[in-house]
Amino acid sequence: MAVMEAAFDPAFGEAWNRGQVENALLLGNCYYHLITPDGQEAQAGDTVAGFALLRQVLDEAELLLFAIAPDWRRRGLGDILLQKTTSKAEDRGICTILLEMRRNNPAEFLYRKHSFRQIGVRPKYYRAIDGSRIDAITFERKLDAG
Ligand SMILES: CC(C)(COP(=O)(O)OP(=O)(O)OC[C@H]1O[C@@H](n2cnc3c(N)ncnc32)[C@H](O)[C@@H]1OP(=O)(O)O)[C@@H](O)C(=O)NCCC(=O)NCCS
Repeated sequence: MAVMEAAFDPAFGEAWNRGQVENALLLGNCYYHLITPDGQEAQAGDTVAGFALLRQVLDEAELLLFAIAPDWRRRGLGDILLQKTTSKAEDRGICTILLEMRRNNPAEFLYRKHSFRQIGVRPKYYRAIDGSRIDAITFERKLDAG
């Protein structure tokens, strides 16, 4: 939750609160990965630099949230965490990872680097805190498991 609260720009209202995360994890089809500042899988008590939260339905997964805390950005941790997320997804039998992102989020460069391709646009789908509307861009990555 500390990474969640630090990582997402409040202007867009994208961060989830603790209750939302707990509810997702209680559903049983959501899972997450945590990464330490030195790029390892975080264990209990470790400092956490970033996380990925996914929901799996059959052989598809949706990347619900993905973040690296501001203090640890531009050091390759996003690359490491996304690589781990996709390889673990293959292990789980996932063939397709889907995600949705607001237009102009720099995360797009990361996703494109990792072979996600744009498959759709939902015009003016998100409402920013200031009331402005922002398109949602949908990306897909096919995995070797498929
Ligand atoms: C997107 C995010 C996860 C990137 O994490 P990071 O650890 O800084 O990423 P990395 O250092 O591993 O960078 C990997 C690649 O991502 C791209 N990238 C990352 N941040 C970027 C930025 N601000 N501008 C342009 N490209 C960027 C680059 O292609 C980079 O590869 P390169 O170093 O070879 O150029 C991080 O900025 C973040 O948490 N953002 C806020 C949360 C968010 O919007 N998440 C996505 C939607 S859920």
